[in-house]
Amino acid sequence: MPTKIEKDALTGRHTTGHEWDGLQELNTPLPKWWLYTFIACCIFAVGYIALFPSIPYGRDYFHGWLQASSRTAVDADVKALEAQRAFSMDKIKYTPIAQVKDDPKLLAVATAAGRIAFANNCQPCHGAGGEGRVGYPSLADDTWLWGGTLADIQQTITYGIRSGNDRARNSVMPNFGAGGLLTPAQIEAVADFVWGAFYGHAAEGQDLSKGRAVFAENCAVCHGANGEGSRTVGAPPLKSAVHLYGDLRAAIVAQVTNPRMGVMPSWEKKTNITGLDEATIKSVAIYVHALGGGE
Ligand code: HEC
Ligand code: HEC
Repeated sequence: MPTKIEKDALTGRHTTGHEWDGLQELNTPLPKWWLYTFIACCIFAVGYIALFPSIPYGRDYFHGWLQASSRTAVDADVKALEAQRAFSMDKIKYTPIAQVKDDPKLLAVATAAGRIAFANNCQPCHGAGGEGRVGYPSLADDTWLWGGTLADIQQTITYGIRSGNDRARNSVMPNFGAGGLLTPAQIEAVADFVWGAFYGHAAEGQDLSKGRAVFAENCAVCHGANGEGSRTVGAPPLKSAVHLYGDLRAAIVAQVTNPRMGVMPSWEKKTNITGLDEATIKSVAIYVHALGGGE
């Protein structure tokens, strides 16, 4: 029950008029600074709700009078970046590959684009760092089947190897075993020779003369008299520390009996819908060239 409002003797404030068992409540108003801050916050909130995305309704929401959205801001940033990159990629397309490499700005764009294109398209076969694996040559060492200059690499990537593209790098190692060109004994002998003389696993005093003769007659045309290989036919160097099909005598026998004839796809956009545009091919060639074996 409200009783009468009176002045409190101790504080000099008025009471509210409420009383409980003789206890009276003092009327203590909010401090002015608190009150004004509170009112300012309310005004700010109303303004904020009006200007910025705020009230949700159903599937949509009130977008605010300013139409502000961090997504639109990001979209705009991405568009600007794409435009800038498109300009550089266009420039890469019309600049000879060697000149792209000499232009630090273009080189930076090409290397970045090449790294992404490599990870998306080449990594499954050639490994994340281009280290290769059995049947898929390493692109990071200086042993090349077809050549390691920028132009060589660009050509290999564009048209592929035995890819079916008209301009693909093509060569066929004869089918010596299944084709009946060599007897099993001759194949064993030539494998002994290649394994011993070129791969470096000859046993003490092993007689390799039989295999040497078979090699000179049948293999040296492509692989070179001293096993140095030939880039015109993509015949791997046999006298090498790196072997496409592994450092195994059995791999030599298998290859001579029935050659694997690895296929590298063509990435030419014109003939392959999942191919890469010219600027991206140049970029990935520059990236591969820089992996460590570029000539
Ligand atoms: C489907 C597997 C596959 C994919 C994907 C692939 N390659 Fe190859 N690539 C090969 C094979 C196999 C060879 C070796 C062919 C042979 O036996 O001569 C090769 C050879 C090459 C060579 C020649 C190496 C040399 O020593 O001369 C280059 C360069 C190359 N690839 C680059 C690339 C790049 C760059 C990409 C991605 C755009 C790519 N490859 C994607 C399988 C692949
Ligand atoms: C017409 C050219 C040609 C002739 C002739 C030829 N080769 Fe080859 N050889 C190739 C090519 C091309 C490749 C790689 C192709 C592939 O991917 O299978 C190759 C690959 C090899 C490899 C795998 C090398 C590695 O790094 O793993 C061996 C081993 C080999 N040849 C041995 C021989 C022997 C031995 C003979 C003779 C009996 C011979 N070749 C004759 C073209 C030839």
